[in-house]
Order: sequence, then structure tokens, then C-alpha cells
Amino acid sequence: MNSKPPQQTAAPPVEPSAEEKSAPKGIQLLRGMKDILPEDAPYWDQVTDTVRSIAAAYGFQRIETPVLEETNLFIRSVGKETDIVEKEMFSFADQSGDNVSLRPENTAGVARAYLEHGMVSLPQPVKLFYLGPFFRHNRPQAGRYRQFFQIGFEVIGEAHPIIDAQLILLAYALYRDLDLSISLQVNSVGHPDCRREYEKALVDFYRTRKNELCEDCKRRLQRNPLRLLDCKVEHCRELAADAPQIVDYLCDADRQHFMQLLEYLDSLELPYTLNPRIVRGLDYYSRTAFEIWPQEGEPGSQQELGGGGRYDYLIETLGGRPTPAAGFACGIERTVLLLKERQQAPPSPKQLDVFIAQLGDQARKKCLKLFEELRREGFSVGESLSKSGIKQQLEIANRRRARYAMILGQKELVDGTILLRDMENGIQEVVDFQKTALELRKRLERQKPNGLIPPPA
Ligand code: HAM
Repeated sequence: MNSKPPQQTAAPPVEPSAEEKSAPKGIQLLRGMKDILPEDAPYWDQVTDTVRSIAAAYGFQRIETPVLEETNLFIRSVGKETDIVEKEMFSFADQSGDNVSLRPENTAGVARAYLEHGMVSLPQPVKLFYLGPFFRHNRPQAGRYRQFFQIGFEVIGEAHPIIDAQLILLAYALYRDLDLSISLQVNSVGHPDCRREYEKALVDFYRTRKNELCEDCKRRLQRNPLRLLDCKVEHCRELAADAPQIVDYLCDADRQHFMQLLEYLDSLELPYTLNPRIVRGLDYYSRTAFEIWPQEGEPGSQQELGGGGRYDYLIETLGGRPTPAAGFACGIERTVLLLKERQQAPPSPKQLDVFIAQLGDQARKKCLKLFEELRREGFSVGESLSKSGIKQQLEIANRRRARYAMILGQKELVDGTILLRDMENGIQEVVDFQKTALELRKRLERQKPNGLIPPPA
């Protein structure tokens, strides 16, 4: 039978109503997403600059993996029965029919890259850090978004507990350098085999209390009993306080690993707390698990800033040979929220060396070039070339904390000079236009405590 495909009739264009015409509805930000606006940028820069400097000091190299990965990567690593994989991934079939997901985290992506690029043949451990956007379709609230940024550190190829201690120290140092005090919560979740016995004990404990559990926990009891311990529902938390503790079920090797880690932490005098309820929401962890929290009682102290631990079996799960590893990640938004709560004002922008002001079209044209020449000489330069009034331009120079201003007007153009104005005392000097960089450098050097050119007597 020659059946015709249904006729696609184009719907007639819908005329906007009179109301829509007068007040068109703008396209808005998706729920749970967040714009990072210029007023927050100094805080973001403060965090990312600190991360970069700590990473360099501790010998971590940057890695960036794609935001889109095969969905199976997360199913196999994070775990099929975790909240992240069950409920929170942005997953879809792409145009080629491949099942892909926006990355909800990056330990899996980094482990994939480690294997795929043969990093196993590099000197071990391989120390990597990353900084980028992640996606989880969870219920948005302050500090919880559907796109959020993480900074993360991974050490792959070493089982020694000194690595765990160093990672915890690094997390502590990162927040100390940001002037934020944190508390560290540490636990060991043991080897998956040791955990099985513990899980049995947990199921036994909750069997008689099942009716008191929230619906999610009732489900977790069957499929992932460890997750009962970090339920946020108040009554579930109360019950968890009396539950058996995993440390009592660790095998000798795991216990020794944990004890050694604690010894290192003690020797560092870090403010850590043993917390048997830290089990983390991702399946790949073994042995050490830790979380980074704001100091208790402080604003924003209801959400953790970061977390991590060991994942000695992840690389194997993804097809590699047994390769121990550990790492952690922190949320940038939560860190920035805390910085904003604790600081009076954002870090002030860097002082400009010089601001270029101009009067008239000819001068404007010359200053367009002068800006680039001075920038290439290494000066920090400001401008507002579209403005015309000198007063207005000097106000901008002041706002941008320029140390000097250079002013090019009609007279200076004719004379081949430029005015150099000291923005602190208002004194102006005429200098040769050809020697602007030289004259500026001389003056800036004089102000340095150990300037190359001694101040005039
Ligand atoms: P995670 O605990 O799932 O661990 O996430 C780490 C941090 O990312 C959280 O502590 C939080 O600050 C931030 N974060 C997570 N979800 C959101 C959200 N929806 N909105 C805002 N911030 C969020 C991991 O992702 C592991 N990959 C950490 C790791 C690295 N373990 C070993 N290596």
C-alpha cells in the first residue's frame, strides 16, 4: 500500500497580542542556572588565582576534560544507584544516537583521560587539577545550582596515606589563603569487601526503625544502605547518630591506613573532626572520605564546601590496571558566597600605572595607538577613549586608582608633548611624546621601595 506521509501543514504565524507587543516577555535564565556578574568577578578571581597558586606550589598540572561525556562513564564510576546518576544528570541521545551526559563531576572524566592518554606510563603519582562547570539537575537553592563550578585536585597512582594527608592539608591551605576558616570532617569507608559486613549491620540496625525513615531512606535501605547515614532529614539524622560506625568494621589494612592518616593530620595540627557519618554520595570511594565545611555556627555553615577521598578501584572499574588514587573538589559558588559573607568589600582592583585622557579627534586617534604601545611595554593602562571631557576622564582615572594620567590635548599635539599628571598630588609635567614610556617608568621606579632609580635628593 502506498501510504502517503501525513501532510505537514505549517501553523499560521501567531500574531503577538497588543500586550505582548507593548511588553515583550524576555527570555530568562533557566531555573537553577546563575549568571556570574562583573560585581562578583573579583571574588571569583580571588578563588581561582588562589587555586592556581596552590596548585603550582604543590606540583599539580592543569587538566580540562569535555563537559559532555558518554553517560556510561558516570553510571560505571559514580554508580547507578546514586542520587547523581538516578535523578540529577542532564542526559540525552545526541544526533548520532549516542547516550551522552553533561558531566555532574570530574573524577570520572579525569580517570578516563588518565587511561585514554596512557598517563600510567608517566612517573607516578600523576597530580592534576581542574576548574570548570558541572551540571546536576537538583532542586535549586542558595549555594545549590544546576550549573555550578568546581575546583578539583586528583592524585592518581599512589596508595600511601601521606597523599590523603597532603590533599587534606592542601584543602585547608586553600581556604586559609582565602582567609576563611573551615572545619575538616574525616572518615574511612574501607574496602568495598569490608563494607559489605558493615552494610549488613546497618540494615539490621534500621530493620526495626524502618517506619521512621523518610521515603528516600526506605529505598536506600534496600539499594545503598550507606547513604542512610548522610540523609539531611532531621529525624533520619537523629537515627543515624545511634547507627553502628564503619570504623568498627574496617579490616586491618584499612584501619592501619586510616590510623596513619590521622597521625599525619595530628602532626600537622589541623582542625579536623572524626565523623563516622561521612560516606559521600558517590560509589567510587574507598578508605579515606573527607569533607570541608565552613566553621560551625557561621553563616552558610549548612552546606559543605567540598569533599573527596580515595578511589582506589575506579581506574580498574573503567578498564585500567589496579591504580590507587585520591582527590577532592570544592564548589566555587559556595566558596564565593562565604567570601562575600565574611568580607566587607570585594578585593579592590589593582592600581593602574597610567590612565590616558585625550581632547579632540586627533588626540583620540593618537591615544588609541599609545594605549597599545604602553600596554606592550608592560604598563597597566586605562582609557576611556569614547569620552570627550577631561574632567570626566580624570574622574574615571581616579575611580580606577590610576597612579598617573597622561593628557593629550591640542597644544600637546602641536608641540609633540604630553602632560603627565601625578594623580596623588595633582602636579603636572610636560614630557616629550616620544619618551612617554621612559618618563613613566622613571617615575614609577622612584616609588618602589627598592626602585632602581633613587628618589631625587
Ligand atoms: P561532590 O561532593 O559531589 O564531590 O561535589 C564537590 C563539591 O561541589 C560540593 O562539596 C559542592 O561544594 C559542589 N557542588 C556539588 N553540587 C553542587 C550544586 N548543585 N551546586 C553548587 N555546588 C555544588 C565530587 O564531585 C567529587 N568528584 C569530588 C572528588 C574529587 N572526589 C575525589 N576527587
